Amino acid sequence: MAAITMKNIVKKYGDGFPAVNDVSLDVRDGEFMILVGPSGCGKSTLLRMIVGLEDITSGDMLIGEKVVNKVAPRERNLSMVFQNYALYPHLTVFENIAFPLRLAKTPGDEVRRRVKQTAELLELTEHLDRKPANLSGGQRQRVAMGRAIVRQANAFLFDEPLSNLDAKLRGQMRTEISRLQRRLGVTTVYVTHDQTEAMTLGDRVAVLRKGVLQQVGSPRELYEEPVNLFVAGFIGSPSMNFLPASVDGSFLETPLGRFELRDERKLAAVGDREVVLVGIRPEHFEDAALLAEDKKAQGSIVRAHVDVTEWLGNELYAYVPYEAPADLTAQLRDLSRELDSDQLRTQAVVALDAASDLKPGREAELWIDSGRAQIFDPSTGENLTRDEERVAELDRIAAESRDAQRAAQREPAPAKQPEQAEE
Ligand SMILES: Nc1ncnc2c1ncn2[C@@H]1O[C@H](COP(=O)(O)OP(=O)(O)OP(=O)(O)O)[C@@H](O)[C@H]1O
Ligand SMILES: [Mg+2]
Repeated sequence: MAAITMKNIVKKYGDGFPAVNDVSLDVRDGEFMILVGPSGCGKSTLLRMIVGLEDITSGDMLIGEKVVNKVAPRERNLSMVFQNYALYPHLTVFENIAFPLRLAKTPGDEVRRRVKQTAELLELTEHLDRKPANLSGGQRQRVAMGRAIVRQANAFLFDEPLSNLDAKLRGQMRTEISRLQRRLGVTTVYVTHDQTEAMTLGDRVAVLRKGVLQQVGSPRELYEEPVNLFVAGFIGSPSMNFLPASVDGSFLETPLGRFELRDERKLAAVGDREVVLVGIRPEHFEDAALLAEDKKAQGSIVRAHVDVTEWLGNELYAYVPYEAPADLTAQLRDLSRELDSDQLRTQAVVALDAASDLKPGREAELWIDSGRAQIFDPSTGENLTRDEERVAELDRIAAESRDAQRAAQREPAPAKQPEQAEE
């Protein structure tokens, strides 16, 4: 096992286009690191440079203490699972998993021992004599995984390994991968498009945009304290709403209505800007009709015209179209296009309690948890209200939860005490 250190990594393809642009990233020994970003942002390129399948234009790639820029892939001792993994159809599951060991001329009884152990870990023991064609998608995926983890590699690299599976299998495999990684404690870099995978699997997540690293942090940090508009909009589904606002003392005048920014720290961060973008996550809205007075007083109420509603059982989405100044609208539209969401109109998406009986086509009173709003500079996209103290706190929480998860994977579940069992 080893740490992976990237120092100012640049990759230019033949046409001079920088697919990866000055990326510096430390993946700690045993860490589970997620790489996310829109299509074409350089995720696969970065992964292929770690494994050695792609030359590095400039910068240094270290595995452990050693610079590996010129080291052949085979000598890096890394295991990679590709998006379109291919199993050998004429070989049994056993031989598919054993393949890397056979290549390395591992003695037969060692091969049997390692394959057996891997198969147990992945619950493939009863399928070892079968051929891949006769397996389900999830089983095949596990065989591909088995082939990767059967070797004692320094790190695992995954390039969207679950993207061929249906939603249910993805969910199952996701939990399996998480368990496996924590049990084995092997440094892992995992590329995904999938919001849920990004938020649930990793110790930390690195967000790339057009080859440039935007932010690296725990999933909670990215969600609660994003550094800029791009990260704020990319992480979370439905996306954060960005409302243009003109600043009037401590008040923000938005297309949804006027509300007060009561937080001194945030007001100071706004400074003398006349226009800002206010970021509010969908879940920080509520149907005012459902709230007690004291709760209402903690936020702000706006009246808005609801266009469409979607009742999802556990919550209700309401769409609130609004008019905004043309220059900001264009900017928001570019951002949304880049985030692959490509909204056709400027609208806020709000997630309300499923008990709400808001009707489409009517005016509604919406409550905004305005204390949770984040303020962005419209020209640079920088989050002006990122709270460094909260970031430090979130770091601590993430470290604790990581240790707890690792410990839970190592220890067997505690046996029930007799007196508890009687209850
Ligand atoms: N062999 C190549 N030659 C030239 N350009 C390339 C090559 N491979 C990738 N690129 C370019 O480099 C950029 C990054 O590509 P990459 O495959 O790393 O993106 P990605 O983030 O993995 O995207 P996706 O999510 O679609 O898989 C893209 O703009 C792509 O067009
Ligand atoms: Mg890719």
